[in-house]
Amino acid sequence: MDVTVVVLAAGQGSRMKSSLPKVLHPLAGRPLAQHVVDTARQFASDITLVIGHGGDAVKAHFQNQPVQFALQAEQLGTGHAVAQALPNLPPTGTVLVLYGDVPLTRVETLQRLISQVDEKTLSLLTVTLDNPTGYGRIVRNTQGEVQAIVEEKDASAEQKTIREVNSGILAMPAWVLHDWLPRLSNNNAQGEYYLTDLIAMAVSEGIAVRTAEPDDVEETLGVNNRVQLADLERRFQRRQAEQLMLAGCSLADPARVDVRGNISVGADCFIDINCVFEGDVELGAGVRIGPNCVIRNARLGDGAVVEANTVIDDAELGAQVTVGPFARIRPGTTLGDGAKVGNFVETKNAQVEAGAKINHLSYVGDARVGAHSNIGAGTITCNYDGANKFRTDIGAGVFVGSNSTLVAPVTLEDGAFIGAGSVITKTAPADQLSIGRARQVSISKWQRPSKN
Ligand code: UD1
Ligand code: CA
Repeated sequence: MDVTVVVLAAGQGSRMKSSLPKVLHPLAGRPLAQHVVDTARQFASDITLVIGHGGDAVKAHFQNQPVQFALQAEQLGTGHAVAQALPNLPPTGTVLVLYGDVPLTRVETLQRLISQVDEKTLSLLTVTLDNPTGYGRIVRNTQGEVQAIVEEKDASAEQKTIREVNSGILAMPAWVLHDWLPRLSNNNAQGEYYLTDLIAMAVSEGIAVRTAEPDDVEETLGVNNRVQLADLERRFQRRQAEQLMLAGCSLADPARVDVRGNISVGADCFIDINCVFEGDVELGAGVRIGPNCVIRNARLGDGAVVEANTVIDDAELGAQVTVGPFARIRPGTTLGDGAKVGNFVETKNAQVEAGAKINHLSYVGDARVGAHSNIGAGTITCNYDGANKFRTDIGAGVFVGSNSTLVAPVTLEDGAFIGAGSVITKTAPADQLSIGRARQVSISKWQRPSKN
């Protein structure tokens, strides 16, 4: 199917009370208009955004994406907005008009709408509301055929009782726009060029007007203020939570998990309350995430366990890894199969190999920790001298006693054993005990100070 999409995104959105253009406000971490473009992208390659208020910011956001822009310098109505895109529209084929502030429309709904369009038929997405106030009403004749859309401000008292309304989303043959948009007038209550006036024109020219309804009214809801934005965020999160559960992941509470990006799950995962997932996250089978975790751009292997209050950012965790509670796994960390990182441990750019343990209160940065090594409580890699960063290389089977300070660049060879409290500044040879601390002295005839 040859569909061209026009996304209206020129409006001011003054009720957002924001310096950010409305269509750039994020929903689940992605601008509203990005949701619309991503949906359209699934069936259309030719997408034009009509920009106006905050147009430079909108353009900047989309600059690396294959979309075209049409500038509507003055907002003179939805018909005028689409008219600005005319130079970008092909002479034939189907054109679909979407709103940049209506983010939850489903692809299936739009495909149903588009499938009704041919050279002599246009198609409207309508919904029936208990309270239709503010919307354009769908006027039908006694045979039920659509005759016109009448805007709230132009509607008679009788027309105002109509509960079927225009969602604003419509599809039609391109020639209709090329031929008729230049003929729209702004002779109406708002002095605007109404896109919706095309319907009455179609009826008078013998062009059929069909309608489709979405499965769910939320697909047509727009954002005008932050209350509506929060409402749509919750609806979107609910959808994602349902997808997770249907994919085989248990959620302690589907209302208390937020996905701001893409998450994939293996079978039998469990996610406790108040977890946030950002960017691209992949969970293997049987992964368990405790409460209050933030996980961003990460891959977790089968059976990995993340205990409460852990933050994972840009990291890869192998199978059966255990992390947390209260761990901070920073970018560039890889944890090999069966590795353990415990409470109050921070890792950064650390390659922790299979079975290694960093159980308590440590900082391990710019380091390798070899397989099955054990890093004692309070151990710190001193990776930064105030100007440059250096690496610590810890081999396999190393034991680092508690509260050791490893001053990089430094190497701990395989099987090295470091006495507690050491400051290690040079190579600790394989299979030897290295101790770098002042010897203990005990003074027998020492007198405890007394008060003067
Ligand atoms: C429009 C429809 C109405 C429908 C309603 C659904 C018209 C005349 N009316 O009304 O039938 O029920 O949407 O929400 O089409 N925009 C521009 N440039 C403009 C005007 C609008 O880009 O000059 C954009 C807005 O940013 C917004 C969308 O078009 O994303 C709709 O504009 P809005 O002013 O909200 O239309 P309504 O008057 O609510
Ligand atoms: Ca509106």
